[in-house]
Amino acid sequence: MAANEFEIKKQICDIGKRIYNRNMVAANDGNISVKLDDHTFLCTPTGVSKGFMTPEYICKVNEKGETIQANPGFRPSSEIKMHMRVYQKRPDVGSVVHAHPVYATSFAIAGIPLTQPIMPEAVIALGCVPIAPYGTPSTNEIPDAIEKYLPYFDAVLLESHGALTYSVDLLSAYMKMESVEFYAQLLYQSKQLGGPKEFDRATVERLYEIRRKMGLPGKHPANICQNKDTLNCHNCAAAKNDGLGQHTGSTYAHGAENKSVSADQVAEITKKVMEQLGLN
Ligand code: 13P
Repeated sequence: MAANEFEIKKQICDIGKRIYNRNMVAANDGNISVKLDDHTFLCTPTGVSKGFMTPEYICKVNEKGETIQANPGFRPSSEIKMHMRVYQKRPDVGSVVHAHPVYATSFAIAGIPLTQPIMPEAVIALGCVPIAPYGTPSTNEIPDAIEKYLPYFDAVLLESHGALTYSVDLLSAYMKMESVEFYAQLLYQSKQLGGPKEFDRATVERLYEIRRKMGLPGKHPANICQNKDTLNCHNCAAAKNDGLGQHTGSTYAHGAENKSVSADQVAEITKKVMEQLGLN
């Protein structure tokens, strides 16, 4: 086994401890995976506490989620199909984290997406977090339910279940989960205090502009291409040129140069995409 692979297994165990210790999972809940190459992935085993894993627990699967290697007594996560759908649809993703953080999962159970722009970091990191309709765990229902959100977002709530985040590497995918949970907690608590004060469109657009300038990887409403006459991101001219996997900050650049695009237009496009995705 390559030294690097053992290091990644240790990192998966560290992140498992972190999600367990931070109350993002109970008992044996949650799962984590990391892409080694297009045909090889490491993942947590099913039915163990992710807070108490050691590297021998970690399983290796192929792109279909079939076991390549697992030590006796360990089988890959029951949610491996969900992880594989993310990798299949998002070639830029290197790691996927699924957890049940208390506040984010409460919103998922209440059927409320995280769409209110209330603080700069959440707007920059996430934009907003949609809810994928409920699916039975371990079946293809969850992969099918999340699929339409994958090209546009790096975090999705799973209705009546939990949260899913993914990014270029393990730490970034985990950090997205922290950001989702922090945003959900702030939203919940500010609702108790009479309701959050939402940012107006111009403020949101200024934050989106900061995100674009930062050149952050991943998908985000700020990166939805503006130079298109259709709201289907895949069909716009830029997407056709660059391909879906590249439709990020760099693709946006030609839109960013178009100074005639106003904050209102950005907000309108975002709203229409959200409506198409059933978020309004
Ligand atoms: P696994 O232990 O099979 O990964 O499942 C945990 C879980 O949270 C299912 O949603």
